[in-house]
Amino acid sequence: MARRIIIDTDPGQDDAVAILLALASPELDVVVITTVAGNVPQPLVTANALAMCELAGRTDVPVHMGADGPLERELYTAEYVHGPTGIDGADLPTPVMKAKDDHAVDFIIEACLDADDPITICPIGPLTNVAAAIARQPSIVSAIREVALMGGGFFEGGNTTPVAEFNIFVDPDAASIVFNSGVPLTMFPLDVTHEALVLPDDLERFSGLGTRAGTAVAGMLDYYERHDIEKYGFEGAPLHDPCVIAYLIEPQLFSGKPCRVDVETESELTMGQTVVDWWGVTGAEPNAMVIDSVDRQGFMDLLVERIGAL
Ligand code: RIB
Ligand code: CA
Repeated sequence: MARRIIIDTDPGQDDAVAILLALASPELDVVVITTVAGNVPQPLVTANALAMCELAGRTDVPVHMGADGPLERELYTAEYVHGPTGIDGADLPTPVMKAKDDHAVDFIIEACLDADDPITICPIGPLTNVAAAIARQPSIVSAIREVALMGGGFFEGGNTTPVAEFNIFVDPDAASIVFNSGVPLTMFPLDVTHEALVLPDDLERFSGLGTRAGTAVAGMLDYYERHDIEKYGFEGAPLHDPCVIAYLIEPQLFSGKPCRVDVETESELTMGQTVVDWWGVTGAEPNAMVIDSVDRQGFMDLLVERIGAL
């Protein structure tokens, strides 16, 4: 039976590719897509999620709008990476499909409590919605099979400040709630996603698919890679969010180990840093499976194959 998942997202080109991968994969049953302000504000992130459902021919998948800002802090967005629309390069029409009425947090709580087989939540943006759901209804923690999230960094540092990765930096208070909730947690930090690069040949493979989805993915990645190529000298864009979905489909592509992870929520200097006890020096009980390595070629082959099926 397909694994039931919730994708909580702030599209963003890499989120968009993650959504397409999930919708193209029979191993996964995308129960709902919930949106959170992050890369760009609401309602743009919601419009972008709707556009991906339409592009994948999956207007059956409900999209619920969620938080328009962090629990405590001011919203910080990343148009400097993703462009003003958040999915620049996609070149898609305005979606006809509409978001559902219920707020994302209400739906997350309902979906977790109603599930006869425990649900997997895939946060690939700031953790505001997931933290709000846990804070409002702590009993969902025991009903959740796994939270597999993109966020944080340790040896790789940060991409938004010297020590903080974007999803955690935007809402560190939410991240702290999730990391301390006791939920089964798998973390995909920059240490693995910076290995998941789209090389020039891969970009050719997407555009060579000759499909609407392949062309949209190639266009989005061509736009999105510019910032990180210039900043890091990478050969291509790091596909952060699709790592989470690929792990659910082919876990053998990834490796890591259980670690204690804490989130800085006090110091402005290190706000949003994920302090990963990789060497176990604190002796603290691990609260997350921290992934630090990916088979890049296998990951890319899976992506091209599945996007090509749309
Ligand atoms: O730091 C990368 C993460 O922040 C990705 O999820 C990207 O989409 C942005 O949300
Ligand atoms: Ca994201």
